[in-house]
Amino acid sequence: MDNVASQGRPGSPRRAKLKPPHGESAIESPPITLPRPMFEGRLLTRDTNVLITGATGLIGGELIRRLLSSDIGRVSCLIRPSETADARSRLIERLRLSGDSLVESDDRLEALAGNVAMPDFGLSGNDLAKVADSVDMIIHCASELSFIRDAHCLETNVSGMHNLIALARRCRRNPLIVHLGTVASCGAVTHQCLSENDICDPDNEHHNEYTRSKAIAERVLRDSGEPCLILRPSITLSAGIPARKFARAIAWFIPLLQEFEAVPIDPASRVDIVPVSFVADAIDRLLRKPYLHHDCYNISAGPHAATICGPVFAFLDHFYKRAEPLKLIAPSQWTKEIHRRYLGSAQRRKLFSTFRYYLPFLNMDVVYDNARLRAELGDAFPMITPAYEYGPHLLNLIAGEEKTTRRIVERLKATG
Ligand SMILES: NC(=O)c1ccc[n+]([C@@H]2O[C@H](COP(=O)([O-])OP(=O)(O)OC[C@H]3O[C@@H](n4cnc5c(N)ncnc54)[C@H](OP(=O)(O)O)[C@@H]3O)[C@@H](O)[C@H]2O)c1
Repeated sequence: MDNVASQGRPGSPRRAKLKPPHGESAIESPPITLPRPMFEGRLLTRDTNVLITGATGLIGGELIRRLLSSDIGRVSCLIRPSETADARSRLIERLRLSGDSLVESDDRLEALAGNVAMPDFGLSGNDLAKVADSVDMIIHCASELSFIRDAHCLETNVSGMHNLIALARRCRRNPLIVHLGTVASCGAVTHQCLSENDICDPDNEHHNEYTRSKAIAERVLRDSGEPCLILRPSITLSAGIPARKFARAIAWFIPLLQEFEAVPIDPASRVDIVPVSFVADAIDRLLRKPYLHHDCYNISAGPHAATICGPVFAFLDHFYKRAEPLKLIAPSQWTKEIHRRYLGSAQRRKLFSTFRYYLPFLNMDVVYDNARLRAELGDAFPMITPAYEYGPHLLNLIAGEEKTTRRIVERLKATG
């Protein structure tokens, strides 16, 4: 589905043919030959009016700040009001989390109350008419990212995609849909470097319903035939943002590791991690190009900037001043006897179960090729700051979680 001919027509979904385990063929990315440009004239200009969803989130919030830093038309943010705050207040609160109080007074920015899980995104009659009349691009960042709220994943990610497509079809200007997918839509594969053509298959085995729902959503979008650009970030950390809320979204379980002597993690496993500045800059720069050569990009660290578990955990040992380093034992060597030895007590097993959802992702040893993104952005390819540089700041932000951890441990002991 990545050619000009396929743009704007319903197409059969690409079935990912995943390489066999340990196939490292894409590690040395061959130089990419760019096909004919697509989306010519569709991307951001000074007059482009954008509707963006997920604006209160990590990536959406950063993206708004980038969008408004250059010429653009109106940026309308679809936001769920909460019980205590309307859409506008929630938008301002999010921008302030990034230490940004300038953007909030920008008169190109507006907040629209809505919910992607509702038909027409739950927009009021007036807002719907305005969106239908003026929007040129819809950037879809809203998503349920929970690994355990399966019904919410289906509702937000899949029903939300159907609602998005229906809304786009009501829009007079045939907007380009820019969809934030995820590299994890590949499902439960191991030991590979995956390119954009390899990944995204809801029929694969998946570690959780979040990644499956994202794969389904992508397929629904492709099948709709609507003009779309799919961007797939890898694990995105809130580097540089002084907000505990975002730091703990992914890193909350790290302080828990201090309760263990050993964990089933392969020290040689690679993990594709990027800072949010890289993701937001890459997306903004892609959208500002006069044309793009592909309709799908991995926004990833790739094989050359991947993070390796062994050194990361050594860094954590150092950060937490562990007396004994945490032992990383590859899952293939994690025997029943070892399990009993290190997770013998009921409390420890319960604690372990709280982060078991993350283990498959740490052990996949999968990275995502970013040769397309590099070729497209050239010298404008943003820097990928290594996790060691911003890690201490993120860990300090969640330092309070250690108290939470202790409370969980104490409670488990009490119920033990
Ligand atoms: N962060 C990562 O590591 C990562 C990696 C790969 C891909 N991605 C993708 O990137 C996108 C953005 O992720 P993120 O990290 O920014 O997520 P996030 O911080 O959890 O933000 C999710 C956003 O979606 C909004 N949302 C959820 N349900 C909604 C609904 N029913 N109606 C309207 N808005 C709703 C949330 O609004 P509320 O504030 O109202 O909850 C929030 O603004 C997602 O598509 C995600 O799948 C993220």
